[in-house]
Amino acid sequence: MADNAPIGIFDSGIGGLTVVKEVRRLLPHEHIIYFGDTARTPYGSRSPVQIVEFMHQILSFFESQKVKMAIFACNTMTALGFEEARRRYPFLLTAMNTGVEQALKVSRNKQIGVIATQATIASGSHGKVIKDMRPDAAIYPQACPKLVPLIENEIIEGAKVDEAVLEYLEPMKSGHMDTLILGCTHYPFIDQAIRHVVGLEVQIVDPAQDTALTAYELLVRSGKLADAQQSGHVKLCFSAGVERAKRMASLVMDIANVEFEQVDLAVRC
Ligand code: DGL
Repeated sequence: MADNAPIGIFDSGIGGLTVVKEVRRLLPHEHIIYFGDTARTPYGSRSPVQIVEFMHQILSFFESQKVKMAIFACNTMTALGFEEARRRYPFLLTAMNTGVEQALKVSRNKQIGVIATQATIASGSHGKVIKDMRPDAAIYPQACPKLVPLIENEIIEGAKVDEAVLEYLEPMKSGHMDTLILGCTHYPFIDQAIRHVVGLEVQIVDPAQDTALTAYELLVRSGKLADAQQSGHVKLCFSAGVERAKRMASLVMDIANVEFEQVDLAVRC
């Protein structure tokens, strides 16, 4: 029997919309509720304790919305909280994919760069997965704290973005890195600036598609796919700046039939 309960997708801000886009493409019949914590973004420079606390607030909100699954569209919350969340909630959970498997597949020399938030890089999560899968691979991790605040403020091209991207990626280019993982869901918004700095030889891996695929497979395995006759409704909730979020959403998806809402977690949970 079909399960038409919504899927919750969440991030610290607008970054997770790059994952919503892929989930929509793969699962057009599913109802989606997105939550972006734009009032408290960025999470990446916060302490692990606070990041996990915020994650629980968001997952409690999804519990109140009776979701059948929550998808982490955030590498930072996945790295710090996924294992803990797994034991606590009465719905399915899908982690943000690390991109490591795809990176190892496309890389010729197994020299893998990872750009992400400070908290994700400090957790060492990508490095651990890479070493487990290919002990001989080399990893070049780089935290990029200036990027999320720029993107949240709709600055996705121009001198400020180019300067910040250059500052972080230029040192990585001096090694033999041939593949670069976008380890933060905000970064696909500035993929052109990133491509410009790394050049055409470096493979850029965006794990959003594989995250959507994992969610799809889990729904199939659990017998929880939505009715294939219906077209899924999308509601995008943000804790602040809904108009700004709307403009950013329109860059990655058709928002004609999308509902937007401001959600104050303190009130709703
Ligand atoms: N988009 C998030 C990620 O994938 C986090 C951004 C932030 O709030 O620092 O890690």
